[in-house]
Amino acid sequence: MESVNVLKGYGKLGSPEAQTPHHHRAAKRPLIVALTISSVVLLTISLGFLVGALIRESNAEESESRSLRSSSAQSIRAVCSVTQHQDSCFASISSLNSSVKPDPEAIFELSLRVCVNEVSNASLFVRNLVKSSNDARSKGALGDCAGLLEDAAGRLADSVAAMAGPGEDKAALTELKISNIQTWVTAAMTDQETCLDGLQEMGSTVLDEIRDRLSRSREFMSNSLAICAQMNAILDRFEMGMH
Ligand SMILES: *[C@@H]1O[C@H](CO)[C@@H](O)[C@H](O)[C@H]1NC(C)=O
Ligand SMILES: *[C@@H]1O[C@H](CO)[C@@H](O)[C@H](O)[C@H]1NC(C)=O
Repeated sequence: MESVNVLKGYGKLGSPEAQTPHHHRAAKRPLIVALTISSVVLLTISLGFLVGALIRESNAEESESRSLRSSSAQSIRAVCSVTQHQDSCFASISSLNSSVKPDPEAIFELSLRVCVNEVSNASLFVRNLVKSSNDARSKGALGDCAGLLEDAAGRLADSVAAMAGPGEDKAALTELKISNIQTWVTAAMTDQETCLDGLQEMGSTVLDEIRDRLSRSREFMSNSLAICAQMNAILDRFEMGMH
């Protein structure tokens, strides 16, 4: 009964022309209210998702860095992931010390030790070829090459020595050390290329053999340079700073 009266009363409100503006105003207000409410709801939901995603992401990063810092193998893989020859990087560093401290700087130092060993060994190999060579011209070029490789090994050894300052027992990097090490390793690579250029100019018969012998050390030095160049990004991934 009541609802019928309401409807009747509503019908009495005058002509359709007079009703139209009133009708619009009445319809707009709930629309605005509804839009406002749904915007607020949407905003709240999106913010919830955003905050959730950020928390998940930072948790994921935290658990990634925690697992990197807890395993030698994983940490070596992570450091080697910035290099062009990831497998030779991982294998050579692991073979030197598979239980290295899971710390990018300690792993970088090992990568430099890998270079020292390889280049020293290559220089011995070339020294032996000098001894066994009968051809005087070739002997001269081989002697120069052996000397260049010995210089290269010395620069690489200096780089290892630069990692640990006097009295420090752990690897310690600074931007200056990184820049010096980059210079020395690059110079060692140049020494090696100069050796091959000299042998090529002499038409040495052992050029190919030596080029093969030096391909590993070229890879190792390129690995160290890549790690060095990306050290800040690697430390970020481990959520560590320079020591
Ligand atoms: C390997 O590294 C760990 C930790 O950095 C060290 O304690 C251990 O003596 C090293 N092993 C070798 C064979 O150098
Ligand atoms: C040095 O090189 C020789 C081959 O020229 C190899 O048999 C030996 O294992 C190498 N040593 C190291 C420590 O790399």
